[in-house]
Order: sequence, then structure tokens, then C-alpha cells
Amino acid sequence: MPPPRPRWETNKKQPPPKVQKLQKTQKAKTSDEVSAPSISLERQQLILDIFKYSFAKRFAEDIKPLLQEIKTHLYNRDFATAFGKNEYLETYAARWSASRALGYADLFWDLRTHFWPVKSIDEESGARKIVCLGGGAGAELVALAGVQDLIIHDEMLPSSTMEVIAVDIADWTLVLYELTKHATTAPTLSKYASAAIQAANAPLIAAGNLAVSLQKHDILNTDSATLTTMLGDATHVTLMFTLNELYSTSVPLTQKFLLNLTSILSAGAILLVVDSPGSYSTITLNGAEKKYPMQWLLDHTLLSQVDGKGTKKEMNVKAKWDKIYDNESRWFRLNPELRYPIELENMRMQVHLYRRL
Ligand SMILES: C[S@@+](CC[C@H](N)C(=O)[O-])C[C@H]1O[C@@H](n2cnc3c(N)ncnc32)[C@H](O)[C@@H]1O
Repeated sequence: MPPPRPRWETNKKQPPPKVQKLQKTQKAKTSDEVSAPSISLERQQLILDIFKYSFAKRFAEDIKPLLQEIKTHLYNRDFATAFGKNEYLETYAARWSASRALGYADLFWDLRTHFWPVKSIDEESGARKIVCLGGGAGAELVALAGVQDLIIHDEMLPSSTMEVIAVDIADWTLVLYELTKHATTAPTLSKYASAAIQAANAPLIAAGNLAVSLQKHDILNTDSATLTTMLGDATHVTLMFTLNELYSTSVPLTQKFLLNLTSILSAGAILLVVDSPGSYSTITLNGAEKKYPMQWLLDHTLLSQVDGKGTKKEMNVKAKWDKIYDNESRWFRLNPELRYPIELENMRMQVHLYRRL
């Protein structure tokens, strides 16, 4: 069954918001940075509960054998098998997307003045169109749903509805359907719950504030016309724990994709790239193999003036991207009070945020 497309909230006019001026690029941190979580423990627990309810079937039995099978396929880089059946997809999302959703919600909110500026709303639709490349496993979706209410209630940030488009090579339809359903409906309470608990019971996000869809594509081999339709009016694009996988598949195709992305996105669009710190990719230049850090390849493609063939252009060509935040090693640590049916892990990530000029 396809995921439902919740209705858009219409004519949801807010008073003109005051927006903090974007600051210059924050300097890259050289040492590991651990900051206090930016969102409340209650909200973090709500986010985890979405995964607990969505994958209750997986938690009803021993999840370890399936996890082990998936790990083996991932280790062998056999992604087609690892992401090839719903049992695996649900298990993957239950185990990995849950903690990532917490880390991403923390990031989306911590970087809010950079990530949600006024220009990040499409003038015509009044919505934010957020394209999550490699986002089928749902961590980005639940994290975005988790901060939407905070955005709406923050007078410094412009309020809008959210259209989340997950683009993925694997068919995550069922996972996104379950996560969307549980994010947009209030949890079922025990009939013995107190009147106060029943009165406070609400979904993570109102259905009218979120539209979700999945587009199944191999983004390295998608034609320009499809890419233009998919990304044309995007206000945000995310590449979370996906870029290094793309570079490992093909550095030239990934560079070509990033250049296409650059030419399709409009001024003001935000690009967020998150991956494991210290990710490297191997490139062959003049017959010799050399390893480059992921962020070096990314900056080289986005910030230096290269054409579609990777050739450097004249220096007087106008810059296409501004790097507005950069952190080589950011930690998200789980609060021990959080409750979840299986053990989750803290996460460490490198973070790069760009704005299209
Ligand atoms: C490591 S997972 C990350 C999932 C999610 N973004 C997160 O942060 O939890 C990488 C995702 O990228 C997808 N992917 C890999 N190569 C892709 C490609 N060429 N086109 C589209 N999606 C791709 C995979 O199917 C998988 O869902």
C-alpha cells in the first residue's frame, strides 16, 4: 500500500517572522565536539516511540539474527540484498534510523538559523520542499517531523508546511508508510491513562503539516529531466550517510551528479551533507590511485569552479555555493533515560552545510 499523502494545511498565514541574519561560515572544529542536546528529552522520547510503534512486529521477536544477516550483507557491500526485502528494511530502520533520527533532529534544531532561514520557503507553495537523497530509511523524515512543531512555535523562524521527498534506490515504501502513520497520529493510550495524559496526547506532527513521498531512483543514473522535476523547486536537499556510498560506487558519476544538482537548485537552497568522520574515497589520476577525504572531494566539486568534465575554469567565474557550517566531528550522545526496546548507539558525524548562491 502506498504511503498516504496527508492533506496540506491551506492558507496557514503567520505574522511576518523576524529572521536572524545568517552568520559567516562557522569554523571547522578540529577536536570532537559534544554539545548538550538541543531538543527536550520528552521530544526525543516521542521520536523514539515512533520507531517503537512502527516496528512493533520486529521487536516482538528476537531481532538479532536478522540484524546479523543485514550486517553481513552490508559488510560485503551487497546493498541489493541488504535492502532487498521488507523484513530487512524494517529491521534496519528499527536499529539504525531510530538513533539517527535523534541525532538529525538535534542537528536540524541546533543549526536552525542556518537551516531554516526565510529564503528556504517556496514563495509559490508557501512550503519547504525537502529532498532527502538516500533517505528511504526514514531517519530524516522522523527528525524533520520532530522539529516542525518547534519551528512553528519559534517566532524567529518562518513557519511553513513541509513536503518531504525521500529519494532512494531501494523500495522503502512500507517503512515510510509506517513511520508517517505513527508520526501523524497520537499514540494509543491505555484506557487507564489519567485525564491529564489523555489531554496531552498528540501526534509528533499534525498530518496537515507534512506531505511525504518516496521516489525510487538510482540518483547516479537518473536523467536530467527527472532530476530537474525532482529537485527543481527544492528548498532543502540532504545527503545523510549517503554521499560516501555514492563516491564508493563512482567518483566521476557522483561529481557529475553534484554538478547537476548545482545547476538545478535555485539561489537560497540549502544542502546538508552528513557522513562518518574520516571517510575516504579512492580516485585514479593519470593511472595512479590516490585517496581523498570525502569533504575534500565535496568542497572541490562545489566550491572550486569546475566544469562537467572536472576541468578547472577561469577564476573569475561566480561562486555557486557558500559553505555556512562545517564540523569534522560532531557527537550526538544518547541520554540514558531514553527508553527503546533494543540497545542504540551514540553517533559521530562530519557535517557540511552549503547555501546555493
Ligand atoms: C547508509 S544508508 C543511509 C540512510 C539514511 N540516509 C540515514 O542517514 O540513516 C544509504 C542509503 O542510500 C541509498 N542509496 C545508495 N546508493 C544510492 C543511489 N545510487 N541512489 C539512491 N539511493 C542510494 C541506500 O539505499 C540507503 O537507503
